[in-house]
Amino acid sequence: MYISGLNGNGKTNLVESIYLLSGSRSFRTNSSSELLKWGERECSIFGTVTSSHGTEELGLVFTSGERRALSNGKDLDSMTDLIGRLRVIAFSPADLSLVKGSPAGRRRFLDRHMVDLTPPFIKVLMGYQRALASKSAVLKQPGCTYAHLKPWNELLAQSCGKIVDNRVKFLESLSDKSSAFHRLYAPTDGELKLTLESDFFQDGRVLSEDEILARFEGAAAREMAMRSATLGAQRDDVSVTLGGVDARAYASQGQTRSVVLSMKLGVIEMIESSTGESPVVILDDVDSELDKARSERLFTALLNKARQIIVTGTEGPSPQLIHSPDLRILTVSQGVVTSQ
Ligand SMILES: Nc1ncnc2c1ncn2[C@@H]1O[C@H](COP(=O)(O)OP(=O)(O)O)[C@@H](O)[C@H]1O
Ligand SMILES: [Mg+2]
Repeated sequence: MYISGLNGNGKTNLVESIYLLSGSRSFRTNSSSELLKWGERECSIFGTVTSSHGTEELGLVFTSGERRALSNGKDLDSMTDLIGRLRVIAFSPADLSLVKGSPAGRRRFLDRHMVDLTPPFIKVLMGYQRALASKSAVLKQPGCTYAHLKPWNELLAQSCGKIVDNRVKFLESLSDKSSAFHRLYAPTDGELKLTLESDFFQDGRVLSEDEILARFEGAAAREMAMRSATLGAQRDDVSVTLGGVDARAYASQGQTRSVVLSMKLGVIEMIESSTGESPVVILDDVDSELDKARSERLFTALLNKARQIIVTGTEGPSPQLIHSPDLRILTVSQGVVTSQ
């Protein structure tokens, strides 16, 4: 599907809605209030998802204080119940930050796609975040001793091991798949390698729960002095190297784009091989960002299989899209969508 329209007319808004139905946070903003139209107090998104499991109508209702998720008209217990019903991979101009931006963005990418593969994993991540928030609050209290920290460290050590182990395994597979794409895209840029940088992953081995707890105990004096949690899975990062050189620091814009595209294509393959379903692929304004050669290779990789691909742009569909037999074109003008 191609969504055409001049800038500022609502293309990103439309694809962002589809993305939100997957249960993720927006790729554009972290704040719920920015999702509401200015001056409005509520917005809703409904979409029908068809997969090999059948058809389901998903819904999201945002008010300024609350988010509700629905399936076939019935409220789900929580937003996280939405996860795993619709998988979406979005490519957007902001993606360069996946390589060039902060470690937090790379961890979000990792965790989000690990959850795409194994939806119950969200519970481990959320449990970890809750325990970490409690530990941080305890550290801020005057007179905090190790006895106060210990129960939280024990809880954190349990989920830390699971999170790090999953991240390592996910990256092993993603690194293989992404570097295969990368060899096609940028054969002269050097081999792409993705590995986890973590205090709990050393010499190719994830530390045991006891070892992790010992590390937490060792860090306690410093944490109490600094009154903040300085050790944990919240400090992990993904090392991205091209021919052994750190891409986070040294890759050019062009090299970075090839890396990001390869990583996302790698994720699509992982989702397909693990779930048997293709994710919906969104390319928001990506064509304007890519040179012709990269854009052609990207479309060739995406069109080699039956997948739903939603492309936005101002220039009209690329030649490869025009030749795909079931191309639909929508036009967005001042927030109104029409079908051609
Ligand atoms: N919360 C909001 N409420 C109303 N309009 C908004 C809000 N946020 C952004 N806009 C406006 O929505 C318009 C559509 O934006 P967008 O979907 O990004 O367009 P496009 O992707 O087609 O360039 C822009 O003109 C922007 O100023
Ligand atoms: Mg846009």
